[in-house]
Amino acid sequence: MDALDVLKAKYLDEIAAAADEASLEEIRLAALGKKGEISLKMRELGQMTPEERQTTGAALNRLKDEIDAALRARKTALADAALDARLATEWLDVTLPGRPRPRGTIHPVSQVMEEVTAIFADMGFAVAEGPQVESDWYNFDALNIAPEHPARQEHDTFFMHRDAEDPRPPHVLRTHTSPVQIRAMQKQGAPIRVIAPGRVYRMDMDQTHAPMFHQVEGLAIGKDISMANLKWVLEEFCRAFFEVENVELRFRASHFPFTEPSAEVDIRCSWEGGQLKIGEGDSWMEILGSGMVHPKVLESAGVDPTEWQGFAFGMGIDRLAMLKYGIPDLRAFFESDLRWLRHYGFAALDMPTVFGGLSR
Ligand code: PHE
Repeated sequence: MDALDVLKAKYLDEIAAAADEASLEEIRLAALGKKGEISLKMRELGQMTPEERQTTGAALNRLKDEIDAALRARKTALADAALDARLATEWLDVTLPGRPRPRGTIHPVSQVMEEVTAIFADMGFAVAEGPQVESDWYNFDALNIAPEHPARQEHDTFFMHRDAEDPRPPHVLRTHTSPVQIRAMQKQGAPIRVIAPGRVYRMDMDQTHAPMFHQVEGLAIGKDISMANLKWVLEEFCRAFFEVENVELRFRASHFPFTEPSAEVDIRCSWEGGQLKIGEGDSWMEILGSGMVHPKVLESAGVDPTEWQGFAFGMGIDRLAMLKYGIPDLRAFFESDLRWLRHYGFAALDMPTVFGGLSR
């Protein structure tokens, strides 16, 4: 056996014994790498006579090809074996009966937020957002609620903890979605038409109050936007939301520091047999606060009140959900009781749209 046959036998044996890709790579480097045994032999060709060079050169090339082919074949074989091993463990018994997945539902609050968003989007309102931990300035000052204003107490505010020596201005859990009015106007200026749905917080807890609840803010600023526009938008909204043709709204003069004039809005309803019906009867149910945005509010958001005007409103989303879907107790909204969620929840793929129907 000549020297090349010895080399060939050695490498083919090693390749056959290699157990993984890493050892194959080591063998490749030892034989064919830059400083590999066969590469070094190739370099010796230069010192040979032309005849020697021809035969040895050809033999070396053949050897190189053979080793290369053996490496590849072994690599494929190893990969096949690995796949076989995996398939042997990942088998599936197709005769097993199907297991039902746990089924979740969309929470009525999420559903109503989607419905409200769809209706206002149809009227040209975009969705704006703001933080739930809000600075005192956005939540109060910018909305014309001065530091001594009683509204600060009325709002039952949760204050974030601050060390006595902390120089930063105080932060609160926002008590309403109205600070998003300021943020949206600062960002976009006027004209603007946005709604801002989201969570708000007040230190309050009974059958009809939870310390965390949901509101949707509305804001429309333009050159000549009036109370009449506000009334039309809200009536249009209620017709679409409650899915009844004859809604009747009652505007009651009220007071908010951030609107002038201000109105609370009630909707006509009946409570016959404990069943709520919207649009008929002799009862009135308060559903929102609203008014013309106060010039000082426009000013603090960087919008010139001599040039722009418009309306704002704020509605309780949980309240809307209770009214529309006949849910009697607000506290159940936040108890995560699966039986309640299955009863009042909505199918995940039923996305409410104005054209396709809002509910069910
Ligand atoms: N922010 C008010 C509240 O939480 C509602 C409101 C919003 C009133 C916008 C007027 C205008 O009670």
